Amino acid sequence: MSQTETATTPSNDATQGGRNALEVRDGRTGKSYDIQILEPGTEGDTAVRGADLRQMKVNPGDFGLLSYDPAFMNTASCKSAITYIDGDNGILRYRGYPIEQLAEGATFLEVAYLLRNGELPSQGEYEQWVHDITYHTYVHENIKRFLEGFRYDAHPMSMLCSAVAAMSSFYPKAKNIFDPAERSISIIRLLAKMPTLAAMIYRHVKGLPFVYPDNDLNYVENFLSMVARMSEPKYEANPVFTKALDVLFILHADHEQNCSTSAVRAVGSSHVDPFSAVAAGIAALYGPLHGGANEQVLRMIEEIEHPKNVPAFIDEVKSGKGGRLMGFGHRVYKSYDPRARIVKKLADEVFQQVGMDKDLEIALKLEEAALSDDYFVSRKLYPNVDFYTGLIYRSMAFPTDFFTVLFAVARTAGWLAQWEEMLLDKEQKIARPRQIYIGPAERQYQSTLADKAPRTRKDSIRR
Ligand code: ACO
Repeated sequence: MSQTETATTPSNDATQGGRNALEVRDGRTGKSYDIQILEPGTEGDTAVRGADLRQMKVNPGDFGLLSYDPAFMNTASCKSAITYIDGDNGILRYRGYPIEQLAEGATFLEVAYLLRNGELPSQGEYEQWVHDITYHTYVHENIKRFLEGFRYDAHPMSMLCSAVAAMSSFYPKAKNIFDPAERSISIIRLLAKMPTLAAMIYRHVKGLPFVYPDNDLNYVENFLSMVARMSEPKYEANPVFTKALDVLFILHADHEQNCSTSAVRAVGSSHVDPFSAVAAGIAALYGPLHGGANEQVLRMIEEIEHPKNVPAFIDEVKSGKGGRLMGFGHRVYKSYDPRARIVKKLADEVFQQVGMDKDLEIALKLEEAALSDDYFVSRKLYPNVDFYTGLIYRSMAFPTDFFTVLFAVARTAGWLAQWEEMLLDKEQKIARPRQIYIGPAERQYQSTLADKAPRTRKDSIRR
């Protein structure tokens, strides 16, 4: 350890030295600084302010020291009271309530209320919340025509992202984000219309007529009705599917500062309307390293084809030639993802109803092989929430490229709670990271072109 590092190593116990500060000595100048350690969070997380490093300069004209943290590996971008994750111990709580208890006893709309408001609803509050969401499920007829413009094989996430962005144009008053009433109605509209849009997209891909919402049904039943109803006068959802989807929505409702939530917060920090901010979240969720992983898990399992091919597939992943084991690993969880445990149990219940999924054995073999292999164990790679969800969705007859849409419907609850928390947080400003510039130093322009005359298309063809 260098002398500088020794000099900057603080006491582990902030109170031991009597001061809640880091003593930092800048080896370039020999100057020492006190960097204040912020009040710990509820679970003891401590941090220093990145901006406090700026006082460390080699001369008065120096910009000051930056912290460099690609991919935000060790940077808290906000203080949040919504979701708590302890990645080492596999703990997930919404507003303090363990995810296992919410999955067991709550409904998705109850959880959406909790995420937004911080407390569970009273009976009256719950009834009002459910009523408001139920009566905003219809979308403008133009949205229908807008969706009809997509090709039959358009990816459902592209359609969802565009449809939610387009909704911003239907609600111009949603721009009044500092008006609590406008915020509330936007939140209700987004939660209410997301299943309608998702179901319309499903029907568009299938070439089926759109089904209008049925306000007599609950949130999940209504969604299933808009997805699956044919000529029957009243749709009756399979109760096992309804329960399973409600639990899956709860598990996906929020996950603190993940990629898509950070996108919603960053885009929302420019004070754009929430429809546009949520569209940004949907775009981020689409990626295969994030919400798109559930689709990729199933494609991977289908490619493996048979349990006997699992060892060869694992070897390929380990060699770096075969891509990643999708549905495994997580930036925060370094032990079993608690959601994956619940999903695995849920899969058993659904398969009891519809029969065993033909590829479950491949998934189980993959999990078993990975959990006993040093490559995965030493990197703390465990199944994440997406590992088994695809098999459940497939057993409900959802097409593979629709899986991430289901995730987006649920995550809308978390995105909106986080968006509003960000807006009301006095410490937040427009998100604007710094960079360390590594391009060329100043140089003089000299043209590298012999002929700069603008050309017509005809000219360029002739040449
Ligand atoms: N399969 C094989 N190796 C993996 C995997 C995986 N799924 N995930 C990580 N690794 C390896 C990396 O190659 C790396 O190895 P190395 O140290 O030898 O270079 C090491 O584990 C650390 O990986 P990182 O990429 O640095 O971990 P990071 O925290 O950046 O990535 C992520 C997390 C993106 C989730 C990653 O584990 C991954 O790509 N998993 C597969 C995709 C997936 O399932 N995503 C869904 C996540 S959950 C969600 O978003 C809802």
